[in-house]
Amino acid sequence: MTTPRALPPLDPAAFVGIATERIGRKPFVVASVSSTNDVAFDFLAGGLPEGTTVFAGGQTRGRGRKGRSWHSAPGLGLWFSTILRPTIPRENYSAITAMAAVALRQAIETATGFAPRIAWPNDLVAGPRKLGGILVEARNLDPESPAFVLGVGIDVNQTLADFAPEIRDRATSLAIELGRDVDRAGLALECLECLDVWYSRLLRGDVAHIDEELRAGAALVGQRVALEIGNQIHRGVVRSVSLREGITLLLDSGEERAFPGEQASMRLLPT
Ligand code: BTN
Repeated sequence: MTTPRALPPLDPAAFVGIATERIGRKPFVVASVSSTNDVAFDFLAGGLPEGTTVFAGGQTRGRGRKGRSWHSAPGLGLWFSTILRPTIPRENYSAITAMAAVALRQAIETATGFAPRIAWPNDLVAGPRKLGGILVEARNLDPESPAFVLGVGIDVNQTLADFAPEIRDRATSLAIELGRDVDRAGLALECLECLDVWYSRLLRGDVAHIDEELRAGAALVGQRVALEIGNQIHRGVVRSVSLREGITLLLDSGEERAFPGEQASMRLLPT
């Protein structure tokens, strides 16, 4: 088994003077936790304000969607969670993940020059490999005062050997894609700033703008996929991915059909 490389923790000085309206205004940097989402839920229960963000050097029990575990090699990636208390119509809750994906894609491009694509619904990818993931969670959602935890994991400075063997064939990092290490503090700051801008748009109800960027950044368009909804699998070529229209596939049967995006997940099929 490979021993993970441990690099220095994020320097909290990176966030001094942050000028965002909401996201990251109260940043915390901790060494290692079970999951930053759990810490953010504790903060939420303690009444900390919207935008409070916790970064961890590492996570012992990082998690992803559908109960999957999330590998968080100490000091090599960005693992953070932010409290959101959005006063938006219920039908826009599902735009939170898309908002974050669009914001993080922009942040990564601004900080590094490399623009990952967005694999519906919550992955940032470089080609067929996963570079990052988003996990939006709510506990006891109160429609009168909805609160969410937005968790973000970005693989930044890992080499392939730093990934657990079981994900080595489908994971990548910014350093692998760029051929150089990336300043995590600079990237973290850019993530907070872009999330702040896109979250404000969501609060203003500008879902159309988020949708436009989602379409522009969507992965898998033109590729043959297996789309899973509930216990059904549909195979076909992706025509478009959109918050409003869902996922449109040209099915193997020749029929073009739009599927509601909310519960769907897609996987690339070999050609
Ligand atoms: C996914 O790909 O399914 C989502 C992965 C989300 C991982 C991040 S890392 C920071 C935050 N804390 C967690 O336990 N999960 C998210």
